[in-house]
Amino acid sequence: MSSSKFTNAGLTVEDLGIERYGNGHGSTENGNGYRPPSKLNGSTNSKAHHDSSNGHHRHQQDDTPLALRGNVVNPYTYEVLSESAQYIMDRISIRPKIAIICGSGLGSLATILDEKIDFPYEQIPHFPQSTVPGHAGKLVVGKMGKVPVVCMQGRFHYYEGYPLWKCAMPVRVFKLLGVEMLIVTNAAGGLNPDYKVGDIMILKDHVNFPGFAGESFLRGPNDERFGSRFVALNSAYDLDLRKLAKSVSSELGMNDFVHEGIYTMVGGPNFETVAELRLMKLLGIDAVGMSTVPEVIAARHCGIKCFGFSLITNECVTCYDTDDEPDHAEVMEAAFRRQDDLVRFVTSFIDSVKSAELISK
Ligand code: HPA
Repeated sequence: MSSSKFTNAGLTVEDLGIERYGNGHGSTENGNGYRPPSKLNGSTNSKAHHDSSNGHHRHQQDDTPLALRGNVVNPYTYEVLSESAQYIMDRISIRPKIAIICGSGLGSLATILDEKIDFPYEQIPHFPQSTVPGHAGKLVVGKMGKVPVVCMQGRFHYYEGYPLWKCAMPVRVFKLLGVEMLIVTNAAGGLNPDYKVGDIMILKDHVNFPGFAGESFLRGPNDERFGSRFVALNSAYDLDLRKLAKSVSSELGMNDFVHEGIYTMVGGPNFETVAELRLMKLLGIDAVGMSTVPEVIAARHCGIKCFGFSLITNECVTCYDTDDEPDHAEVMEAAFRRQDDLVRFVTSFIDSVKSAELISK
């Protein structure tokens, strides 16, 4: 166990320093040219110094090789995340196979678990805290039917100020818990003219706008223990799971309001301009939200299967001559109204995933 005790997670490489390990030829503990900081808060080689007389931070001495200084390093190393996972494992007797990330207003999915154990984020070593109304801020471990699951009630959004590696870190913790499949849910604005408020869109694919700008939490040193350097995303949303979800929704008589489409993530927190929405439409995007993509990339990187759906909480305004405006209250209200259907859909889906043996026994 590191002695740093849960104080490190928000730091950047400027705060932490990067050490060249051992022989100076770039060979390291994890083979990627870097050694993750062993003490994340305090006595490593970075000497950030607070000069209280003028209120400025001054770096007195930094032993990081100049060639590496300023590089992006995700401080949630394998070892750090193992501490988060170990904390949970020490307190549960089941091993979750499916993780569910509950989007805005969709936290009720976690309330229906049997044999529930709650883990408020502030109690889990290294976990960020959720700041958005409608996001409770805890992990709930329990059983949905016969399947052991872990639910994230409240996720971490880029617009809250978290770097993408914080948004994605819970997925790596899930991997360390033994999770095989991720269900991501979100609230999204409907761009497809056929979509109405309250509809569900199964994610077929996504467009990663922050990714176009070079924002990826996989940027920086890659730890092969999670996954390989370059990750394929052409089948990010598992075909078998999508087929199964469509047959479950027809069995439940939900065909009228369940679609399949393309999601996009924008950084937010502002909603989009009309011109931006028109551009997205041209690209073939059906729904827009502010989440999901980092978690899906993290999952695919470490070999977790993904299934996602959006709840359409508002229709995007793509013309200029209207007073209509989206707002967060509208999003929450739409989610609230569809709660019972969503619970039915997710419970039947998970049951079918088990019957179809799409997760291990
Ligand atoms: N845009 C972006 N994110 C959203 C929207 C939207 O219209 N609705 C819910 N989340």
